[in-house]
Amino acid sequence: MSKWIGKVLFILISLFINSAFLGVIDNSIERFSYQTDSEDVVCHLPDNLVKEIAGYQPIVNKIINEITNGRFKGRTWDSLAELTDLFGPRMVCTDALEQAIDYVVESMKKGGLDNVHNENVSAPNWVRGFESAQLVRPWKKNMKLLGLGSTIGTIRGGIIADVIAVESFDEFNKIPDDQVKGKIVVFVPKWEGYEKTVVYRGNAASKASAKGAVAALVRSITPFSIGSPHTGHQSYADGIKQIPVAAITVEDAEMILRMYRRGQPITIHLEMSDFIKPNCISRNTIGELQGTSKYKDKSVVVVSGHLDSWDVGVGAMDDGGGSMISWKAIEFLRAMNLRPKRTIRAILWTSEEQGMVGAEQYMEAHKATEADEFNFFMESDIGTFEPQGLDFSGNADASCILKEILKLMTSINATQYREPTDGGPDISWWTVRGFPSASLINKNEKYFWFHHSDGDTMAVEDKDVLDKCTALWAAASYVIADLSINMPKNLVTN
Ligand SMILES: *[C@@H]1O[C@H](CO)[C@@H](O)[C@H](O)[C@H]1NC(C)=O
Ligand SMILES: *[C@@H]1O[C@H](CO)[C@@H](O)[C@H](O)[C@H]1NC(C)=O
Ligand SMILES: [Zn+2]
Repeated sequence: MSKWIGKVLFILISLFINSAFLGVIDNSIERFSYQTDSEDVVCHLPDNLVKEIAGYQPIVNKIINEITNGRFKGRTWDSLAELTDLFGPRMVCTDALEQAIDYVVESMKKGGLDNVHNENVSAPNWVRGFESAQLVRPWKKNMKLLGLGSTIGTIRGGIIADVIAVESFDEFNKIPDDQVKGKIVVFVPKWEGYEKTVVYRGNAASKASAKGAVAALVRSITPFSIGSPHTGHQSYADGIKQIPVAAITVEDAEMILRMYRRGQPITIHLEMSDFIKPNCISRNTIGELQGTSKYKDKSVVVVSGHLDSWDVGVGAMDDGGGSMISWKAIEFLRAMNLRPKRTIRAILWTSEEQGMVGAEQYMEAHKATEADEFNFFMESDIGTFEPQGLDFSGNADASCILKEILKLMTSINATQYREPTDGGPDISWWTVRGFPSASLINKNEKYFWFHHSDGDTMAVEDKDVLDKCTALWAAASYVIADLSINMPKNLVTN
């Protein structure tokens, strides 16, 4: 096929795809981006739009200055400390979370936010019970452990079983089933980044059970350890006998793997009384800075984080920080009398840790109106360390606009752009369907050191750094909500 036939076909196919799937493109919006042969996107924003965005520099500077250096300096950290000191960890279906939600609602109202309310969520209600793991052979040791979310317990008195230890599912698959039957399997994956390694947490129980194991233990999903286990969600595959599963420390897991490879017989006594209760009603928490135009509610900019946490540490980092910068961003904008044309809506999701359940039900409840209702989604859930910029998902035209907006953030050195969004689990319900979205790029190399463990406390959060995160969040959401045009989007309709 000659080169030009290929090109014509490509153009025809692109046109077809555009008209067939991409729906809702505002016709008044011109194309700002062009794909080159090498698939690079070249931005050609019209001069007047470039000027319009550059014109926000004084307001952005004012927002950043007031939050990092003016009357709001230190306020984000103080509010997060108050929230976490008052209520501790905020596991879904606990009184602590529901009381924290009531407190946020009251505080948002006191802070003058608009339309403060809750929307109900039916949430999974897993309860951590008594948990104990003891190495009984080759020598005695009480091992720290944390049952994984949704795990069942053992029989009363626990199970005492011999141990098999493997580094990978590949290695495990090669072991004959009769050698696994009746054993406790310890998975000790090497840390290869969260995405790659977390599959061991998610699937350990189902993989082990499929070969007849009685329980599974998993090396905590972290690159670094000082002897604390890290919990997190897991799920059982359909049609598989459910067996108990827990995380143990990196130190214990690696030692057990060494012992096993050396041929030392290993026995563990595992007792857990974790169980699942019927769903509870929890709540997403919503507060707004209402826009000034008559279209304010037709193209809302969402800023968000999740208020629920695990039951260890106090969930300061995951995701008190993301929740707090979202809430404070609009509280501070309002206090500065800065109301954009469109509404900025802070949503503090519930039940993220159980599988983004609060956001899923919010999405379902708003689905009929979503194409008009939402302009842009932001979520911070991968740390509120030194902010560096925003990552983005959406079409190339919206990407060109966001890149231009990021140029305004030089005073806090937060001008980086990356694709796709990495830190927005809840908003992924919309991102995957073509809604434009962003999350916070931050110096979070140590995020998984503390994640889902007793280490997730206020000691991890820095006052000045949190100010910068709130400042970036407030400035970016303000400009997006105030622009003369909506963020372009190509919705995948189904
Ligand atoms: C939300 O749930 C509570 C019970 O927790 C119930 O009283 C209330 O009516 C529910 N609200 C809506 C709108 O369904
Ligand atoms: C700004 O950020 C870049 C990239 O993260 C970094 O190399 C540079 O040192 C930073 N500059 C300041 C003044 O912090
Ligand atoms: Zn989180």
